[in-house]
Amino acid sequence: MTRRSVAQTHANIALAKYWGKRDVAANVPAVPSLSVTLEGMRTITSIELAPDLTADTFELNGEPAPALALERTVTLLDRVRAAAGSADKARVVSHNDFPTSSGLASSASGFAALAVAAAHVYALDWSLERVSDLARRSSASAARSVFGGFVELGCDLPASGVLGASVVAPADHLDVRVLVCVTSEGAKAVASTDGMRRTAERSPYYAAWVERAPVMFSSLKAALLARDLEQVGELTEASALAMHASAMAAAVVYVTGATLQALAQVRELRARGYAAWATMDAGPHVKVLVSAADAAAVRAAMVEVPGVLRVLEARPGHGATVVADDAS
Ligand code: PMV
Repeated sequence: MTRRSVAQTHANIALAKYWGKRDVAANVPAVPSLSVTLEGMRTITSIELAPDLTADTFELNGEPAPALALERTVTLLDRVRAAAGSADKARVVSHNDFPTSSGLASSASGFAALAVAAAHVYALDWSLERVSDLARRSSASAARSVFGGFVELGCDLPASGVLGASVVAPADHLDVRVLVCVTSEGAKAVASTDGMRRTAERSPYYAAWVERAPVMFSSLKAALLARDLEQVGELTEASALAMHASAMAAAVVYVTGATLQALAQVRELRARGYAAWATMDAGPHVKVLVSAADAAAVRAAMVEVPGVLRVLEARPGHGATVVADDAS
């Protein structure tokens, strides 16, 4: 008999960034983070357990996945099999409708979808918090994509060993959009895990980041709960700049000329009265947090920035769902 589960998740963008690991082996973040899950930037992952399979396989966007991606997938599946007492191998097929591995948080929605589909197909009766914890072990930002709306992930591993993300506020809490300004279609230069390790080892500003990030996180969370978009925006941009400053001091540089031009444009738009703030992850793209009212005007201005290839618009969205579940 063949069993199959299909999960759908969305990317998320951290407003208060996670950068650095408190515990590398257990993949526990060094700082708390707060993100918004984005409708429209989607991963769909199907996992099939069939008697003829002798090894796990992983097809990503229509091609066999790179060796490292397969290895990380097998690690997650092994954890699930150990919990389920199963030896069944899996055929994993995953699609992103946005560029993979370029700082557009595809690992977040990817591992979230994998965790949700795997827990389901191996029939584990787990809470969403447990599934989020499973995703976190592969990619901490993935823990947040299990949930919709505005989501937080702490950095203290409880005695239970289960550290999952949780919802801070629903998707309609704040009427905002995120404009993803794509500046390159290629894979990023330094994977986030390497970037974090190098920052922790070599940056003279890493300690300052680890000390300061929780303060920014708490202020941002309070501003979000108070629906103070101005404060949320200011802290979002400040968090990204502080993260990149600490990384850059270790020669971990993700920004390009196009990134800086897009950033300058956002600041210029703000000076002209638009409610728009920039954030960047482990890649060259700029994401703009903007009020729904200003989204169209800001989008039109971002498209004009030299080096910005295209602009995707997303609104706060839903968490993971199981979209198909069958046996044949
Ligand atoms: O979870 P990872 O290993 O993909 O790292 C994500 C790091 C950032 O995207 C830069 C920040 C974040 O909190 O998402």
